[in-house]
Amino acid sequence: MFVALERLKLNETNSVRIPAADLHKQVSAILQGVGTPVDHAEITAKILVSASLRGVDTHGVGNAAGYSRLIENGTYTVPQTVEVISETGTTALLSCGNGIGFIGAHRGMEISIEKAGKTGLGMTTIRDGHHIGMAGYYAMMALEHDMIGIAMTNAVPAVRPALGARSMLGTNPIAFAAPAGEERDFVLDMATSTVASGKIALARRLGVPIPEGWAITAEGEAITEPPGGMGDHWTMNPLGGTREQGSHKGYGLSVMVDILCGVLSGGGFSSQLATGENMTWTMAIDISKFRDVDDFKAMMDDMIRELHATPALPGADGVLVAGDPEADAAEDRTANGVPVENSQYDELRRRAVQLDVEVFI
Ligand SMILES: NC(=O)c1ccc[n+]([C@@H]2O[C@H](COP(=O)([O-])OP(=O)(O)OC[C@H]3O[C@@H](n4cnc5c(N)ncnc54)[C@H](O)[C@@H]3O)[C@@H](O)[C@H]2O)c1
Repeated sequence: MFVALERLKLNETNSVRIPAADLHKQVSAILQGVGTPVDHAEITAKILVSASLRGVDTHGVGNAAGYSRLIENGTYTVPQTVEVISETGTTALLSCGNGIGFIGAHRGMEISIEKAGKTGLGMTTIRDGHHIGMAGYYAMMALEHDMIGIAMTNAVPAVRPALGARSMLGTNPIAFAAPAGEERDFVLDMATSTVASGKIALARRLGVPIPEGWAITAEGEAITEPPGGMGDHWTMNPLGGTREQGSHKGYGLSVMVDILCGVLSGGGFSSQLATGENMTWTMAIDISKFRDVDDFKAMMDDMIRELHATPALPGADGVLVAGDPEADAAEDRTANGVPVENSQYDELRRRAVQLDVEVFI
């Protein structure tokens, strides 16, 4: 049904399947090869492999070589210290130390979970950080504690405000995870633009067109040839696309992300960030402080089953709930290996050789 999205999938021709465990070792080795401490390399590898396992290929292991170069050229401070600047029983303001964003966001969610375990709620906002990858990872960290997790991050401008003709906002994603019982957990992880910008870059690498609605020229014309780089000549649409279809709501959500991540932390809103920076916000909510956890999960199951049972539109396979596509991908990829785009596979191997670390893939 969704031809454009199908074209963006990795397949036997454009990718190579590798076992997740080998990818983890490779990513960790490359990061350690540029001086990342073992524990930080392991956390980063775990998050990147998790994204690749879940089919979020734009934010997975393929980016590891790029991060290693940013560490090598000093853009990321490594080793880094994640410092608590101020805190209360429920809140903390952290600095990611201008290091690997994954480490600050991970620590931020750990602190949110610790605080929620004591008081019911925990919230952190994290400044001085770089790319955190798949925001959903941090929200999902709450699930194993029977908590609801929320994570957001802002980024450099790639998206226009509703009615605007220039990029002013990042793709500023929102991730929300809530545990179910027998059904799969609800995991909404979405850019506040029509899609994450990585999907446009992926379409460009794969040589396939993008659907109308993802991006427009500065004159407002739809773009279907995926553009390269950023600039004033094109911009991405906020979620909704046109004013009639609700672009003002995607725009508003994006600014909300900027406020929690960038303004509350003091790290800066989208247009104040340098390329590759992400300021992040996390929250954990302890369900047991509100009601019996099993009752909560049973009601989640009822809701998810009802949604799945909705009659589908002609041509659609069926109604899904957020997190379903990624859980399906994870099942397949855990059993059959993780597809890595050909060019990124070559790049990872080359980088390992260049850094004189073991080649695992
Ligand atoms: N770090 C950053 O700077 C940054 C910026 C933007 C996006 N991202 C990440 O990019 C990734 C991709 O974002 P995206 O917006 O392109 O995601 P997407 O459009 O592929 O999916 C968004 C959400 O929709 C759900 N979904 C998909 N099909 C569905 C259906 N039929 N019914 C119900 N739910 C459905 C998915 O489970 C997911 O939770 C995310 O992991 C996000 O965190 C990161």
